[in-house]
Amino acid sequence: MSDRIQALADGALAGDRRSLARALTLVESERGVDRDAARELIARLEAASSPATRIGITGPPGAGKSTLIEQLGLRFVDGGKRVCVLAVDPTSSRTGGSILGDKTRMSELTRKAGVFIRPSPTGDGSGALSGRTRQALQVLGSGPFDYLLLETAGSGQADTEVAGLVDVLVLVLAPGGGDELQGMKRGIRELADLIVVNKADGETRQLAQSTASDYARSIPAAGRGAVVSCSALEGTGLDELARRIGELADSAPDREKAGQARERDASGAIGRLNHVALATTNVEEAAAFYRDVLGAEVSEPRPMPEHGVTTVFVRLPNSALELLEPLGEDSPVSGFLKRATAGGMHHICCEVDDILAARDRVREQGVRILGDGEPSIGAHGLPVLFLHPKDCFGVLIELEERASVGSES
Ligand code: CO
Repeated sequence: MSDRIQALADGALAGDRRSLARALTLVESERGVDRDAARELIARLEAASSPATRIGITGPPGAGKSTLIEQLGLRFVDGGKRVCVLAVDPTSSRTGGSILGDKTRMSELTRKAGVFIRPSPTGDGSGALSGRTRQALQVLGSGPFDYLLLETAGSGQADTEVAGLVDVLVLVLAPGGGDELQGMKRGIRELADLIVVNKADGETRQLAQSTASDYARSIPAAGRGAVVSCSALEGTGLDELARRIGELADSAPDREKAGQARERDASGAIGRLNHVALATTNVEEAAAFYRDVLGAEVSEPRPMPEHGVTTVFVRLPNSALELLEPLGEDSPVSGFLKRATAGGMHHICCEVDDILAARDRVREQGVRILGDGEPSIGAHGLPVLFLHPKDCFGVLIELEERASVGSES
């Protein structure tokens, strides 16, 4: 396997399209054997690459992001830059990859030499970027590209996560929709390096310009944000926009050095709280409670037959709740609900840098691991282990390995 992985890593680093495509398919795969290979690949790429500058282009559906990215990409290429595009829809599950059709529109950019474009419907349904997306970024970012454009149809938590993954963040909005900016998490306004009001053309030209001035007024004076309007369709304002984004990208701090500053902790100690999982007999009703009574943002229910649960993600500003309803015959939560018939806290999940180091650490202290002790792939596409609740003061603790590219901000 190692020879095959090395050949794939070499091809990806050289920018060979077929190798890049294969490497991306590998990191997006849900098969256990592929996950091992993907981790090996990422480790080799990490060791060898000088990563591309990452430019995040985010904003609600309908803002015209794809057309804008194609136009910006063409200008970057004309300016001598090598460009790749990863288009991710974190809110769509694997089967709902609506953006796939969308991507064929970047037809002019696709034909340029040295350009690589990849749609990646790898969301886990939570609105958060999955571990696979992070690995896909790692793969593309290590190719011989100057700029990696990451397109996401962001909202809520995904936006702030994207901000932690890119060097430059551009927020694209449609004209009007003042509510949009009001309703938007305050974080994104402050995190965006540039806010672009697109569609300054035809009947919406005036509206786009007044929207841009409205936004400019509502941005805190101290913020780094700036607001511009443009028309991806007519091409107006794009040269200027490409120039400004290019400047921001070229002056962005060195991601590689920043990455070295937070090397993986091999002690196996626990890190951030990833989620708290709550078992319930009715995930729809529980979701409605968190949404309507408590006012939280919740995802659509998502059946995960391979894990024996239907999940709803409740997004919190600093973490997440996972609502779990049993699915299928031998669901891991049905036993729990027999004892706690009203539902209740099922487990907590903490992140670790190195899952095997964490396993060895707790084992040495006499803590039992559930199952055969080998990490399995959890709901987020990352390796997980569960610690025996009897050895943990009655709490079932899940350990999840932190994704390869950190989202710390
Ligand atoms: Co969990």
